Amino acid sequence: MADQPVKVGILGLGRSGWAIHAAMIRTIPDLFQVAAVYDLDTARMQQAAADLNCRAVANEAALFNDPEVELVIIASYNYMHATHACQALEAGKHVLCDKPFGLVVADADRMIALAAKMGKIIAPFQQRRYEEDFLKVKEVIDSGILGEIVHIRTCWQGFKRRWDWQTSRAYAGGALNNNGPHPLDHAMVLFGGENPDVWAQASRHLCSGDAEDHLKFILYGQGHPTVEVELTDVWAYAQDRWVVAGTRGGLKGNPKSLEWKWVDFSGMPERPLSMQSTPDRSYNSEKLEWHTATWQAAGEGTAGGAGAAPPPGAVLLFYRGLFATLRTGAPLYVTPQSVRQRVAVMEKIRASAGIPAQA
Ligand SMILES: NC(=O)c1ccc[n+]([C@@H]2O[C@H](COP(=O)([O-])OP(=O)(O)OC[C@H]3O[C@@H](n4cnc5c(N)ncnc54)[C@H](O)[C@@H]3O)[C@@H](O)[C@H]2O)c1
Repeated sequence: MADQPVKVGILGLGRSGWAIHAAMIRTIPDLFQVAAVYDLDTARMQQAAADLNCRAVANEAALFNDPEVELVIIASYNYMHATHACQALEAGKHVLCDKPFGLVVADADRMIALAAKMGKIIAPFQQRRYEEDFLKVKEVIDSGILGEIVHIRTCWQGFKRRWDWQTSRAYAGGALNNNGPHPLDHAMVLFGGENPDVWAQASRHLCSGDAEDHLKFILYGQGHPTVEVELTDVWAYAQDRWVVAGTRGGLKGNPKSLEWKWVDFSGMPERPLSMQSTPDRSYNSEKLEWHTATWQAAGEGTAGGAGAAPPPGAVLLFYRGLFATLRTGAPLYVTPQSVRQRVAVMEKIRASAGIPAQA
């Protein structure tokens, strides 16, 4: 059993269920194999079942109760995740739940409590916590070379119209519930605390639904850097995905490359406060000697911007980790408790921006 592939059932075969989950699973048959699929769209389901050489089942319950299925992947619409995850857990399956991990904290709590009761794993699919540019930014910050971090800005900017269900509040679409969980997850790691204060603003401009396509939020709190996230489809000139400001230097860059520079003040004269007039009416100035470093993505990186495809490297790492959890009891890299904190912050963002989770 310990080295047997995990048999999977996929619920929802769209951009995520098919193009991310099934696409990855078919490349790692030693770890995971799709046993059954279900989608409301029968043609889509039949095509997927034929392609994957697996069963197409009659409804959700048939998928959740399929005796061969050990792990159910929930890749249905945003507002259905908690209900579907709980139904699969009740049926005695492990669950991999795509983001958002429920819409409100009560959803996340329900899933976590039920998984504990059933003795099953509930894994939130926050695969971007493995993204190599994010991990590099974190490594540089943690090294201390940039000094105390004052401000971090991460941008997911693009310019486009969109008219699918992810723009509709009825389906719990909108920038926050759709792409928001990814930069929020990064922001929370870099903020370094569990309960930030939050300021947020959201508006709708180019999309056809009634949900926000322009969102900005700021996490702040005593003793933490201010972390600013911009997630927008109304930004023709996309800026760097990462900007970090520290007391000894800074970092900027994108998923494919980063650069940072810093000053070593230790070899420079002290600058005690002086109230004397400056010589020749000059402004304070001193020569700074900058040290510089750069980083290039070893893997494929990923295009920046809202709606960019997630990098397969991060998905592979996620699945390898999940296999280790399911087969050897290794701890989850992305714990449901950590993502529950993010859902709590999503509630604060909605309260600040005056937007509902769903309408
Ligand atoms: N983690 C990521 O990087 C990532 C990327 C894209 C989407 N997602 C998430 O995946 C989920 C699906 O999004 P998508 O872009 O794939 O949407 P999509 O519209 O492309 O696909 C959704 C599919 O689910 C099916 N479906 C909906 N309800 C169902 C039900 N009750 N039973 C069976 N099938 C059902 C639909 O028929 C459709 O085929 C969303 O929650 C989204 O946030 C995550």
